[in-house]
Amino acid sequence: MADTPPPRPIVFVLNGPNLNMLGLREPEIYGSDTLDDIAGMLEDRARELGVDVDVRQSNHEGHLVDWIQQANAERAKAVLLNAGAYTHTSVAIHDAIKAVNVPVIEVHLSNPHRREGFRHVSRVGEAAKGTVAGFGALSYLLALDAAAKL
Ligand code: DQA
Repeated sequence: MADTPPPRPIVFVLNGPNLNMLGLREPEIYGSDTLDDIAGMLEDRARELGVDVDVRQSNHEGHLVDWIQQANAERAKAVLLNAGAYTHTSVAIHDAIKAVNVPVIEVHLSNPHRREGFRHVSRVGEAAKGTVAGFGALSYLLALDAAAKL
């Protein structure tokens, strides 16, 4: 009997507040792709890379904390995290990233450093392994490539 293949490594892709509005929300900044479109692109790229992706979105800070802990408990390969506005404010998400071993890669569609001053601080980036920002939907794909190589 053939051996069952080992499970593919999983990468959690966590999205914070208002990212469910992609496609409608300020398209001149965030582009016209919806979050479902981005999830589809990530699934295609994941197949090529030999990993699985689990794409989630919540408007609630605590859900993001729970999912970072879950990714760690389930020995995910990495977390791609676009925490939306919580990027700039959330000590709880910063602490969650610090509390776990799973590498967390910060992702942004826009380049926050080119925008309002309040976006120049990143509580996520201070704890994350690395950051990909400013490339629209491509930011997620570049981050997935990095995650697969970790
Ligand atoms: C964002 C940048 C954040 O400043 C903003 O609050 C978002 C989206 C981005 O992907 O460019 O919600 O994370």
